[in-house]
Amino acid sequence: MAVLRREKGQSPQGSRIAVSILIGILLGCVFAVFYPHGFFSSNLTVSHRRIANSNLQTGSSSCESPDRIKMVKADIVSISEKNAELKKQVRELNEKLQLAEQGQDHAQKQVLLLGKQQKAGSFGTVKGLRTNPTVVPDESVNPRLAKLLEEIAVRKELIVALANSNVKTMLEVWFTNIKKAGVRNYLVVALDDQIVDFCKSNDVPVYKRDPDSDIDSVARTGRKPCCFWIEVPYFEGILAAGLQCSSNPFDHLYRDSDVESMSDGHDNMTAYGFNDVFNDPAMGWARYAHTMRIWVYNSGFFYIRPTLPSIELLDRVAGRLSREPKSWDQAVFNEELFFPSHPGYDGLHAAKRTMDMFLFMNSKVLFKTVRKDPALKTLKPVIVHVNYHPDKLRRMQAVVEFYVNGKQDALDPFPDEWHFVAPGGGGISDFCDWLRSDWTSKDHEPGSSYFRARILLR
Ligand SMILES: *[C@@H]1O[C@H](CO)[C@@H](O)[C@H](O)[C@H]1NC(C)=O
Repeated sequence: MAVLRREKGQSPQGSRIAVSILIGILLGCVFAVFYPHGFFSSNLTVSHRRIANSNLQTGSSSCESPDRIKMVKADIVSISEKNAELKKQVRELNEKLQLAEQGQDHAQKQVLLLGKQQKAGSFGTVKGLRTNPTVVPDESVNPRLAKLLEEIAVRKELIVALANSNVKTMLEVWFTNIKKAGVRNYLVVALDDQIVDFCKSNDVPVYKRDPDSDIDSVARTGRKPCCFWIEVPYFEGILAAGLQCSSNPFDHLYRDSDVESMSDGHDNMTAYGFNDVFNDPAMGWARYAHTMRIWVYNSGFFYIRPTLPSIELLDRVAGRLSREPKSWDQAVFNEELFFPSHPGYDGLHAAKRTMDMFLFMNSKVLFKTVRKDPALKTLKPVIVHVNYHPDKLRRMQAVVEFYVNGKQDALDPFPDEWHFVAPGGGGISDFCDWLRSDWTSKDHEPGSSYFRARILLR
């Protein structure tokens, strides 16, 4: 019942509410017309403004004395000076920031140039970078050599042989056969004037350094090699000594590594590397330790690309040979090339490749294996390097007879190994004298062949 009553009495009450709402809306419209910025807030801001204005007026009127104005002006001057100083600092800092950003940008660009950043590919498809970019040549440093190389080199490559008058006959055998093999891009670096004349009279390209140049005096004293040797034009080169070409070695290079070298190894394992197990019985169950072994690269014949690791290698070898005059160049060459970085030592990060031991053959492979094997005997090597036999000249001539002139029994008179037989039955001291007369030992300048390789590289 009560509910019903309330419902009944709702209609007169509702109309009263509707009327009051209507009045409210009308009042709102009136206010909206006369006070468009709002009833309370507009009044407040206006009053605030009035107060602020009155304060300002009283302030300015109270400090119009000339002293006060001067002080304010001085304040303004000092503040603007401070401002200028800060602006200068900001500018300097901005410049520094810009330089740093440029440096970062250059580094990033170099990274991008060397190869865009990549995601690792799928299993088995990922290959690391072996082929380093070549250095930029600077022909202006040694224009005479640059011009010579321009004339001789083929695709910026050439064979370089070093010679002094002690090896005149060997040099003759060498260039006669290199010419026969159709190689045009070779150069003799003469160590004395006699070789210069000899080469010129035989129409062999020859280069001898200016004896007055800084480079030469550095090589003589063995000091500070790197500073000067950087400054010569580069060319890819092959160093060669005591060897024969029966075909063009440039047709048999991979050119994917910084150093591509002949091995002193005599079979697959020794030439290309193997896992050699070291036995220490005292360790009982753990008596076997595995070692990595490879026969050394022969520093008498290698192909080297003009890259930063290659140049670093030659610098390191030349540097060490000048600091340690008694060291053996081939040992140093291999140590620098192969020893990894370890605490206190930064190793060289050069890419290396061992040449095919039957194409780039050493004299142990030839005399101990190849000449006795009917199948191997038919192979045509590109290079034979008489490195295991100090009777170089006689064996070189026999190699030419065998491979170039086809004389099948030319190698037969030689034993596998070499025995020293001194005239009059001399002993070890004769052997040492003989060694000293060998052209490589006679070439006294420490690390000289590496210095010379370096000039050709850059
Ligand atoms: C040496 O390696 C080559 C190429 O991998 C292979 O053809 C040859 O049979 C190997 N020689 C020996 C004696 O294992």
